[in-house]
Amino acid sequence: MSAIPGPRSRELMKLRKQYVARGLDQQHPVFAASTTGATVTDVDGNRYIDFAGGIGALNAGANHPEVVEAVSEQAGRMLHASFHVLMYEPYVRLAERLCEITPGAVDKKVMLINSGAEAVENAVKIARYATGRPAVITFENAFHGRTLVALSLTSRARSEGFGPLAPEVYRSPFPYVYRSSSGSEAKTAASCVQAFRRLVDKVGADRVAATIMEPVQGEGGFVVPPAAFVQGVSAYCRTRNILFIADEIQTGFYRTGRRFGIEHFDVVPDLMAVAKSIADGLPLSAVIGRRDVMDAIPPGGLGTTYGGNPVACAAALKVIEILEREDYGARAFKAWQASWELIGDVRGLGAMVAMELVTDRQTKTPAADATSAVIAEALRAGLVLVKAGAHKNVVRFLGPLSITDDELEQGLKVLERALGTVSSAGASPVSRHARPARTRARS
Ligand SMILES: Cc1ncc(COP(=O)(O)O)c(C=O)c1O
Repeated sequence: MSAIPGPRSRELMKLRKQYVARGLDQQHPVFAASTTGATVTDVDGNRYIDFAGGIGALNAGANHPEVVEAVSEQAGRMLHASFHVLMYEPYVRLAERLCEITPGAVDKKVMLINSGAEAVENAVKIARYATGRPAVITFENAFHGRTLVALSLTSRARSEGFGPLAPEVYRSPFPYVYRSSSGSEAKTAASCVQAFRRLVDKVGADRVAATIMEPVQGEGGFVVPPAAFVQGVSAYCRTRNILFIADEIQTGFYRTGRRFGIEHFDVVPDLMAVAKSIADGLPLSAVIGRRDVMDAIPPGGLGTTYGGNPVACAAALKVIEILEREDYGARAFKAWQASWELIGDVRGLGAMVAMELVTDRQTKTPAADATSAVIAEALRAGLVLVKAGAHKNVVRFLGPLSITDDELEQGLKVLERALGTVSSAGASPVSRHARPARTRARS
Protein backbone atom coordinates (compact mmCIF):
# COMPACT_ATOMS: atom_id res chain seq x y z
CA MET A 1 0.00 0.00 0.00
CA SER A 2 1.16 3.54 -0.68
CA ALA A 3 -0.12 7.05 -1.11
CA ILE A 4 -2.60 7.47 -3.93
CA PRO A 5 -1.29 8.03 -6.51
CA GLY A 6 1.77 6.04 -5.48
CA PRO A 7 5.35 6.49 -6.74
CA ARG A 8 4.99 4.06 -9.65
CA SER A 9 1.74 5.70 -10.85
CA ARG A 10 3.41 9.11 -10.58
CA GLU A 11 6.39 7.87 -12.60
CA LEU A 12 4.14 6.44 -15.36
CA MET A 13 2.12 9.66 -15.32
CA LYS A 14 5.21 11.45 -16.64
CA LEU A 15 5.13 9.19 -19.73
CA ARG A 16 1.39 9.67 -20.10
CA LYS A 17 1.84 13.45 -20.02
CA GLN A 18 4.72 13.43 -22.47
CA TYR A 19 3.46 10.90 -25.01
CA VAL A 20 -0.30 10.47 -24.76
CA ALA A 21 -2.70 12.99 -26.27
CA ARG A 22 -4.06 15.34 -23.66
CA GLY A 23 -7.58 15.16 -25.16
CA LEU A 24 -8.09 11.68 -23.72
CA ASP A 25 -10.31 12.01 -20.68
CA GLN A 26 -8.59 10.94 -17.46
CA GLN A 27 -10.73 10.26 -14.42
CA HIS A 28 -8.03 9.11 -11.98
CA PRO A 29 -4.23 9.68 -11.67
CA VAL A 30 -3.63 5.97 -11.13
CA PHE A 31 -2.32 3.10 -13.28
CA ALA A 32 -4.01 -0.29 -12.92
CA ALA A 33 -1.93 -3.47 -12.77
CA SER A 34 -4.52 -6.22 -12.34
CA THR A 35 -8.23 -6.77 -11.93
CA THR A 36 -10.40 -9.53 -10.61
CA GLY A 37 -14.16 -9.57 -10.11
CA ALA A 38 -14.98 -6.16 -8.73
CA THR A 39 -11.53 -5.23 -7.46
CA VAL A 40 -8.55 -3.48 -9.04
CA THR A 41 -4.96 -3.38 -7.86
CA ASP A 42 -2.77 -0.52 -8.99
CA VAL A 43 0.92 -0.55 -9.89
CA ASP A 44 1.82 0.46 -6.32
CA GLY A 45 -0.12 -2.38 -4.74
CA ASN A 46 -3.14 -0.29 -3.68
CA ARG A 47 -6.38 -2.23 -3.86
CA TYR A 48 -9.72 -0.67 -4.79
CA ILE A 49 -13.33 -1.74 -5.03
CA ASP A 50 -14.42 -1.08 -8.57
CA PHE A 51 -17.68 0.82 -9.13
CA ALA A 52 -16.58 1.77 -12.68
CA GLY A 53 -16.08 -1.56 -14.44
CA GLY A 54 -13.96 -0.01 -17.19
CA ILE A 55 -16.98 2.23 -17.99
CA GLY A 56 -19.58 -0.49 -17.69
CA ALA A 57 -17.74 -3.12 -19.70
CA LEU A 58 -17.32 -5.73 -16.99
CA ASN A 59 -20.82 -6.82 -15.99
CA ALA A 60 -19.73 -10.46 -15.73
CA GLY A 61 -16.78 -9.51 -13.47
CA ALA A 62 -13.25 -8.53 -14.45
CA ASN A 63 -10.99 -11.32 -15.65
CA HIS A 64 -13.69 -13.90 -15.03
CA PRO A 65 -11.72 -17.17 -14.89
CA GLU A 66 -14.06 -18.93 -17.33
CA VAL A 67 -13.69 -16.08 -19.81
CA VAL A 68 -9.91 -16.07 -19.38
CA GLU A 69 -9.88 -19.80 -20.09
CA ALA A 70 -12.07 -19.46 -23.21
CA VAL A 71 -9.92 -16.59 -24.46
CA SER A 72 -6.67 -18.47 -23.82
CA GLU A 73 -7.94 -21.53 -25.66
CA GLN A 74 -9.03 -19.48 -28.65
CA ALA A 75 -5.81 -17.42 -28.61
CA GLY A 76 -3.79 -20.61 -28.74
CA ARG A 77 -5.63 -21.70 -31.89
CA MET A 78 -6.17 -18.51 -33.88
CA LEU A 79 -5.93 -14.81 -33.11
CA HIS A 80 -7.21 -13.49 -36.40
CA ALA A 81 -8.32 -14.55 -39.83
CA SER A 82 -10.75 -11.74 -40.81
CA PHE A 83 -14.27 -13.04 -41.29
CA HIS A 84 -14.26 -11.57 -44.80
CA VAL A 85 -11.39 -13.84 -45.82
CA LEU A 86 -11.98 -17.04 -43.90
CA MET A 87 -14.97 -17.56 -41.65
CA TYR A 88 -14.74 -19.16 -38.20
CA GLU A 89 -17.17 -20.83 -35.85
CA PRO A 90 -17.18 -18.41 -32.85
CA TYR A 91 -18.53 -15.64 -35.12
CA VAL A 92 -21.57 -17.54 -36.35
CA ARG A 93 -22.23 -19.07 -32.92
CA LEU A 94 -22.23 -15.63 -31.34
CA ALA A 95 -24.47 -14.22 -34.09
CA GLU A 96 -26.95 -17.02 -33.39
CA ARG A 97 -26.83 -16.36 -29.64
CA LEU A 98 -27.36 -12.62 -30.04
CA CYS A 99 -30.41 -13.24 -32.23
CA GLU A 100 -31.78 -15.56 -29.55
CA ILE A 101 -31.32 -13.28 -26.54
CA THR A 102 -32.35 -9.92 -28.02
CA PRO A 103 -35.99 -8.80 -27.88
CA GLY A 104 -38.40 -9.46 -30.73
CA ALA A 105 -39.80 -12.75 -32.00
CA VAL A 106 -38.83 -11.93 -35.56
CA ASP A 107 -36.05 -13.20 -37.81
CA LYS A 108 -32.89 -11.26 -37.09
CA LYS A 109 -29.35 -10.97 -38.36
CA VAL A 110 -26.10 -9.66 -36.91
CA MET A 111 -22.92 -7.87 -37.87
CA LEU A 112 -19.96 -7.77 -35.50
CA ILE A 113 -17.60 -4.85 -35.16
CA ASN A 114 -15.16 -3.56 -32.56
CA SER A 115 -16.48 -0.63 -30.55
CA GLY A 116 -19.68 1.06 -29.51
CA ALA A 117 -19.19 3.97 -31.87
CA GLU A 118 -18.66 1.58 -34.78
CA ALA A 119 -21.90 -0.21 -33.95
CA VAL A 120 -23.74 3.12 -33.98
CA GLU A 121 -22.12 4.14 -37.29
CA ASN A 122 -23.14 0.86 -38.88
CA ALA A 123 -26.68 0.90 -37.49
CA VAL A 124 -27.22 4.33 -39.04
CA LYS A 125 -25.57 3.27 -42.29
CA ILE A 126 -27.83 0.21 -42.50
CA ALA A 127 -30.96 2.24 -41.65
CA ARG A 128 -30.20 4.83 -44.33
CA TYR A 129 -29.58 2.23 -47.00
CA ALA A 130 -32.55 0.06 -46.07
CA THR A 131 -35.01 2.96 -46.07
CA GLY A 132 -33.41 5.09 -48.79
CA ARG A 133 -33.92 8.07 -46.43
CA PRO A 134 -31.19 10.45 -45.23
CA ALA A 135 -32.30 11.86 -41.87
CA VAL A 136 -31.71 10.53 -38.35
CA ILE A 137 -33.32 11.83 -35.18
CA THR A 138 -31.37 11.79 -31.95
CA PHE A 139 -32.16 13.18 -28.49
CA GLU A 140 -30.77 16.00 -26.39
CA ASN A 141 -28.22 14.93 -23.76
CA ALA A 142 -27.53 11.69 -25.69
CA PHE A 143 -24.19 9.93 -26.00
CA HIS A 144 -23.53 7.63 -28.95
CA GLY A 145 -19.74 7.72 -29.34
CA ARG A 146 -16.96 9.84 -30.75
CA THR A 147 -16.57 8.96 -34.42
CA LEU A 148 -18.12 11.34 -36.94
CA VAL A 149 -21.72 10.12 -37.22
CA ALA A 150 -21.79 8.93 -33.59
CA LEU A 151 -20.42 12.30 -32.43
CA SER A 152 -22.99 14.12 -34.54
CA LEU A 153 -25.69 12.14 -32.74
CA THR A 154 -24.17 12.98 -29.35
CA SER A 155 -25.15 16.03 -27.30
CA ARG A 156 -23.88 19.30 -28.74
CA ALA A 157 -21.64 20.14 -25.79
CA ARG A 158 -19.32 17.26 -26.63
CA SER A 159 -19.01 18.04 -30.32
CA GLU A 160 -18.23 21.75 -30.11
CA GLY A 161 -15.27 22.62 -32.32
CA PHE A 162 -15.14 19.28 -34.12
CA GLY A 163 -17.33 20.34 -37.04
CA PRO A 164 -18.46 20.13 -39.68
CA LEU A 165 -20.52 17.31 -38.27
CA ALA A 166 -22.55 14.79 -40.28
CA PRO A 167 -25.56 16.34 -42.02
CA GLU A 168 -29.19 15.27 -41.65
CA VAL A 169 -29.04 14.77 -37.89
CA TYR A 170 -31.94 16.30 -35.94
CA ARG A 171 -32.27 16.60 -32.18
CA SER A 172 -35.43 16.17 -30.14
CA PRO A 173 -35.89 16.79 -26.38
CA PHE A 174 -35.41 13.87 -23.98
CA PRO A 175 -37.50 13.72 -20.79
CA TYR A 176 -34.99 14.62 -18.08
CA VAL A 177 -37.71 14.64 -15.43
CA TYR A 178 -35.53 15.91 -12.55
CA ARG A 179 -34.62 19.02 -14.53
CA SER A 180 -37.87 19.44 -16.41
CA SER A 181 -40.00 22.55 -15.91
CA SER A 182 -43.19 20.68 -16.87
CA GLY A 183 -43.79 19.64 -13.29
CA SER A 184 -44.69 16.00 -13.68
CA GLU A 185 -43.31 12.89 -15.30
CA ALA A 186 -46.47 12.44 -17.39
CA LYS A 187 -46.43 16.01 -18.68
CA THR A 188 -42.72 15.89 -19.46
CA ALA A 189 -43.19 12.64 -21.37
CA ALA A 190 -46.18 13.97 -23.30
CA SER A 191 -44.47 17.20 -24.28
CA CYS A 192 -41.34 15.33 -25.43
CA VAL A 193 -43.43 12.95 -27.56
CA GLN A 194 -45.24 15.94 -29.07
CA ALA A 195 -41.90 17.61 -29.82
CA PHE A 196 -40.68 14.43 -31.47
CA ARG A 197 -43.78 14.17 -33.66
CA ARG A 198 -43.48 17.82 -34.67
CA LEU A 199 -39.83 17.34 -35.56
CA VAL A 200 -40.59 14.30 -37.72
CA ASP A 201 -43.34 16.21 -39.50
CA LYS A 202 -41.06 19.22 -40.01
CA VAL A 203 -38.19 17.17 -41.43
CA GLY A 204 -40.70 15.11 -43.45
CA ALA A 205 -41.46 11.56 -42.31
CA ASP A 206 -40.53 10.19 -45.71
CA ARG A 207 -37.03 11.65 -45.25
CA VAL A 208 -36.40 10.13 -41.79
CA ALA A 209 -34.55 6.79 -41.82
CA ALA A 210 -34.34 6.21 -38.10
CA THR A 211 -34.40 7.51 -34.60
CA ILE A 212 -31.74 6.40 -32.13
CA MET A 213 -32.35 6.25 -28.39
CA GLU A 214 -30.53 5.05 -25.28
CA PRO A 215 -33.17 3.24 -23.16
CA VAL A 216 -31.51 4.98 -20.21
CA GLN A 217 -29.12 7.81 -21.04
CA GLY A 218 -25.72 6.71 -19.75
CA GLU A 219 -23.07 9.38 -20.15
CA GLY A 220 -25.87 11.94 -19.91
CA GLY A 221 -26.29 11.02 -16.23
CA PHE A 222 -28.42 7.86 -16.04
CA VAL A 223 -31.56 9.63 -17.15
CA VAL A 224 -34.47 7.16 -17.10
CA PRO A 225 -37.26 8.14 -19.50
CA PRO A 226 -40.91 7.57 -18.60
CA ALA A 227 -42.29 4.52 -20.42
CA ALA A 228 -44.93 6.70 -22.10
CA PHE A 229 -42.17 8.61 -23.86
CA VAL A 230 -40.33 5.57 -25.24
CA GLN A 231 -43.61 3.99 -26.29
CA GLY A 232 -44.91 7.22 -27.83
CA VAL A 233 -41.78 7.69 -29.92
CA SER A 234 -41.73 4.05 -30.98
CA ALA A 235 -45.43 4.10 -31.94
CA TYR A 236 -45.03 7.23 -34.06
CA CYS A 237 -41.99 5.69 -35.78
CA ARG A 238 -44.04 2.59 -36.67
CA THR A 239 -46.80 4.63 -38.29
CA ARG A 240 -44.21 6.49 -40.38
CA ASN A 241 -41.98 3.50 -41.22
CA ILE A 242 -39.10 5.09 -39.33
CA LEU A 243 -36.68 2.55 -37.88
CA PHE A 244 -36.16 2.57 -34.11
CA ILE A 245 -32.52 1.99 -33.13
CA ALA A 246 -31.92 1.13 -29.48
CA ASP A 247 -28.41 2.05 -28.36
CA GLU A 248 -27.92 -0.64 -25.70
CA ILE A 249 -24.18 -0.13 -25.48
CA GLN A 250 -24.32 0.89 -21.81
CA THR A 251 -27.73 -0.53 -20.85
CA GLY A 252 -27.26 -4.01 -22.30
CA PHE A 253 -26.37 -7.33 -20.70
CA TYR A 254 -28.38 -7.00 -17.48
CA ARG A 255 -27.10 -3.58 -16.42
CA THR A 256 -30.68 -2.39 -15.87
CA GLY A 257 -31.92 -5.64 -14.36
CA ARG A 258 -33.21 -7.00 -17.67
CA ARG A 259 -31.11 -8.41 -20.46
CA PHE A 260 -31.59 -5.18 -22.40
CA GLY A 261 -32.84 -1.83 -21.15
CA ILE A 262 -35.51 -1.49 -23.83
CA GLU A 263 -37.31 -4.50 -22.34
CA HIS A 264 -38.49 -2.27 -19.47
CA PHE A 265 -40.59 -0.33 -21.96
CA ASP A 266 -42.20 -3.15 -23.98
CA VAL A 267 -40.75 -1.76 -27.16
CA VAL A 268 -39.10 -3.97 -29.77
CA PRO A 269 -36.46 -2.07 -31.69
CA ASP A 270 -35.79 -2.64 -35.39
CA LEU A 271 -32.04 -2.36 -34.83
CA MET A 272 -29.91 -2.62 -31.70
CA ALA A 273 -26.32 -1.56 -31.02
CA VAL A 274 -24.49 -3.45 -28.26
CA ALA A 275 -20.88 -3.35 -27.02
CA LYS A 276 -19.17 -2.80 -23.63
CA SER A 277 -20.08 -5.77 -21.39
CA ILE A 278 -20.53 -8.14 -24.33
CA ALA A 279 -16.98 -9.54 -24.08
CA ASP A 280 -15.68 -8.80 -20.56
CA GLY A 281 -13.70 -5.84 -21.81
CA LEU A 282 -12.33 -7.18 -25.08
CA PRO A 283 -13.11 -4.92 -28.04
CA LEU A 284 -16.30 -6.23 -29.61
CA SER A 285 -19.64 -4.76 -30.60
CA ALA A 286 -22.63 -5.75 -32.68
CA VAL A 287 -25.58 -4.52 -34.65
CA ILE A 288 -28.54 -6.84 -34.36
CA GLY A 289 -31.56 -6.13 -36.52
CA ARG A 290 -34.61 -7.31 -38.35
CA ARG A 291 -33.52 -9.65 -41.12
CA ASP A 292 -35.19 -7.63 -43.88
CA VAL A 293 -33.46 -4.45 -42.73
CA MET A 294 -30.02 -6.02 -42.26
CA ASP A 295 -30.21 -7.88 -45.56
CA ALA A 296 -31.14 -4.75 -47.49
CA ILE A 297 -27.39 -4.14 -47.77
CA PRO A 298 -25.87 -6.07 -50.68
CA PRO A 299 -22.76 -8.25 -50.24
CA GLY A 300 -19.67 -6.10 -49.75
CA GLY A 301 -21.63 -3.16 -48.35
CA LEU A 302 -20.57 -3.87 -44.78
CA GLY A 303 -17.25 -4.86 -43.29
CA THR A 304 -14.15 -4.26 -41.22
CA THR A 305 -10.87 -6.13 -40.93
CA TYR A 306 -11.08 -7.01 -37.23
CA GLY A 307 -14.83 -7.06 -36.60
CA GLY A 308 -15.92 -10.10 -34.63
CA ASN A 309 -12.37 -11.11 -33.80
CA PRO A 310 -12.34 -14.81 -32.82
CA VAL A 311 -10.85 -14.21 -29.37
CA ALA A 312 -13.43 -11.53 -28.59
CA CYS A 313 -16.21 -13.82 -29.87
CA ALA A 314 -15.00 -16.64 -27.61
CA ALA A 315 -15.10 -14.22 -24.68
CA ALA A 316 -18.62 -13.04 -25.59
CA LEU A 317 -20.00 -16.55 -25.86
CA LYS A 318 -18.69 -17.28 -22.38
CA VAL A 319 -19.94 -13.94 -20.97
CA ILE A 320 -23.46 -14.64 -22.25
CA GLU A 321 -23.35 -18.11 -20.72
CA ILE A 322 -22.26 -16.66 -17.35
CA LEU A 323 -24.78 -13.81 -17.31
CA GLU A 324 -27.66 -16.12 -18.24
CA ARG A 325 -26.62 -18.57 -15.53
CA GLU A 326 -26.01 -16.13 -12.66
CA ASP A 327 -29.30 -14.26 -12.72
CA TYR A 328 -27.69 -10.89 -12.00
CA GLY A 329 -30.84 -9.29 -13.35
CA ALA A 330 -32.50 -9.75 -9.98
CA ARG A 331 -29.98 -7.62 -8.10
CA ALA A 332 -31.01 -4.12 -7.21
CA PHE A 333 -29.03 -1.45 -5.44
CA LYS A 334 -31.55 0.02 -3.09
CA ALA A 335 -28.86 0.86 -0.56
CA TRP A 336 -27.99 3.82 -2.78
CA GLN A 337 -30.96 5.71 -1.52
CA ALA A 338 -28.80 7.66 0.95
CA SER A 339 -29.87 10.90 2.46
CA TRP A 340 -27.39 13.73 2.05
CA GLU A 341 -28.54 17.22 1.22
CA LEU A 342 -25.88 17.23 -1.49
CA ILE A 343 -27.79 14.52 -3.32
CA GLY A 344 -30.47 16.12 -5.45
CA ASP A 345 -31.73 12.97 -7.11
CA VAL A 346 -31.15 9.23 -6.95
CA ARG A 347 -32.38 7.39 -9.99
CA GLY A 348 -31.83 4.35 -12.09
CA LEU A 349 -32.99 1.06 -13.41
CA GLY A 350 -31.66 -2.16 -11.88
CA ALA A 351 -27.94 -1.76 -11.28
CA MET A 352 -27.71 1.32 -13.48
CA VAL A 353 -28.00 3.67 -10.55
CA ALA A 354 -26.69 7.18 -10.06
CA MET A 355 -27.03 10.22 -7.88
CA GLU A 356 -27.03 13.76 -9.11
CA LEU A 357 -25.25 16.20 -6.78
CA VAL A 358 -26.48 19.75 -6.38
CA THR A 359 -25.42 22.70 -4.25
CA ASP A 360 -29.07 23.47 -3.49
CA ARG A 361 -32.07 21.22 -3.82
CA GLN A 362 -34.39 24.10 -4.74
CA THR A 363 -32.33 25.67 -7.53
CA LYS A 364 -30.79 22.29 -8.48
CA THR A 365 -27.50 24.04 -9.22
CA PRO A 366 -25.10 21.27 -10.34
CA ALA A 367 -22.36 20.59 -7.78
CA ALA A 368 -19.57 19.73 -10.24
CA ASP A 369 -16.71 20.58 -7.85
CA ALA A 370 -18.26 18.60 -5.02
CA THR A 371 -18.71 15.65 -7.42
CA SER A 372 -15.01 15.70 -8.30
CA ALA A 373 -14.16 16.02 -4.62
CA VAL A 374 -16.34 13.03 -3.67
CA ILE A 375 -14.78 10.92 -6.42
CA ALA A 376 -11.22 11.89 -5.44
CA GLU A 377 -11.96 11.31 -1.75
CA ALA A 378 -13.44 7.88 -2.55
CA LEU A 379 -10.36 6.91 -4.57
CA ARG A 380 -8.11 7.79 -1.64
CA ALA A 381 -10.22 5.45 0.49
CA GLY A 382 -10.09 2.62 -2.05
CA LEU A 383 -13.12 3.02 -4.30
CA VAL A 384 -13.02 3.67 -8.06
CA LEU A 385 -15.97 5.73 -9.33
CA VAL A 386 -16.81 7.45 -12.62
CA LYS A 387 -18.91 10.51 -13.11
CA ALA A 388 -21.37 11.39 -15.83
CA GLY A 389 -23.83 14.06 -16.89
CA ALA A 390 -23.74 17.20 -18.99
CA HIS A 391 -22.85 19.15 -15.82
CA LYS A 392 -20.35 16.54 -14.60
CA ASN A 393 -22.31 16.22 -11.36
CA VAL A 394 -23.58 12.63 -11.50
CA VAL A 395 -21.90 9.81 -9.57
CA ARG A 396 -22.85 6.45 -11.03
CA PHE A 397 -22.50 2.74 -10.40
CA LEU A 398 -21.15 0.85 -13.41
CA GLY A 399 -19.24 -1.84 -11.58
CA PRO A 400 -19.35 -5.56 -12.28
CA LEU A 401 -22.72 -7.17 -11.56
CA SER A 402 -20.71 -9.99 -10.03
CA ILE A 403 -19.74 -7.71 -7.14
CA THR A 404 -20.18 -9.51 -3.83
CA ASP A 405 -22.52 -8.16 -1.16
CA ASP A 406 -19.48 -7.45 1.03
CA GLU A 407 -17.69 -5.52 -1.68
CA LEU A 408 -20.82 -3.57 -2.48
CA GLU A 409 -21.40 -2.69 1.15
CA GLN A 410 -17.77 -1.73 1.66
CA GLY A 411 -17.86 0.45 -1.46
CA LEU A 412 -21.08 2.14 -0.37
CA LYS A 413 -19.58 2.86 3.05
CA VAL A 414 -16.57 4.51 1.40
CA LEU A 415 -18.91 6.53 -0.78
CA GLU A 416 -21.01 7.56 2.19
CA ARG A 417 -17.91 8.69 4.09
CA ALA A 418 -16.69 10.62 1.05
CA LEU A 419 -20.05 12.38 0.79
CA GLY A 420 -19.82 13.23 4.49
CA THR A 421 -16.27 14.55 4.24
CA VAL A 422 -17.05 16.70 1.21
CA SER A 423 -20.29 17.98 2.71
CA SER A 424 -18.70 18.99 6.00
CA ALA A 425 -15.67 20.50 4.23
CA GLY A 426 -18.16 22.78 2.51
CA ALA A 427 -17.02 21.98 -1.01
CA SER A 428 -20.55 23.11 -1.76
CA PRO A 429 -22.93 25.19 0.32
CA VAL A 430 -25.03 22.31 1.56
CA SER A 431 -27.45 22.54 4.41
CA ARG A 432 -26.52 20.66 7.54
CA HIS A 433 -30.07 19.43 7.87
CA ALA A 434 -29.96 16.24 5.91
CA ARG A 435 -33.32 15.47 4.35
CA PRO A 436 -34.01 12.23 2.52
CA ALA A 437 -33.18 12.52 -1.16
CA ARG A 438 -36.05 12.12 -3.58
CA THR A 439 -35.64 8.65 -4.98
CA ARG A 440 -36.89 7.18 -8.17
CA ALA A 441 -34.82 4.06 -8.57
CA ARG A 442 -36.74 1.19 -10.13
CA SER A 443 -35.71 -2.40 -10.27
C1 LIG B 1 -24.81 4.60 -25.04
C2 LIG B 1 -23.44 4.60 -25.65
N1 LIG B 1 -23.32 4.56 -26.99
C3 LIG B 1 -22.11 4.54 -27.57
C4 LIG B 1 -20.95 4.58 -26.84
C5 LIG B 1 -19.62 4.54 -27.53
O1 LIG B 1 -18.97 3.34 -27.28
P1 LIG B 1 -17.39 3.21 -27.49
O2 LIG B 1 -16.76 4.06 -26.44
O3 LIG B 1 -17.11 1.76 -27.34
O4 LIG B 1 -17.11 3.70 -28.88
C6 LIG B 1 -21.04 4.63 -25.43
C7 LIG B 1 -19.82 4.70 -24.60
O5 LIG B 1 -19.83 5.08 -23.47
C8 LIG B 1 -22.31 4.64 -24.83
O6 LIG B 1 -22.45 4.68 -23.50
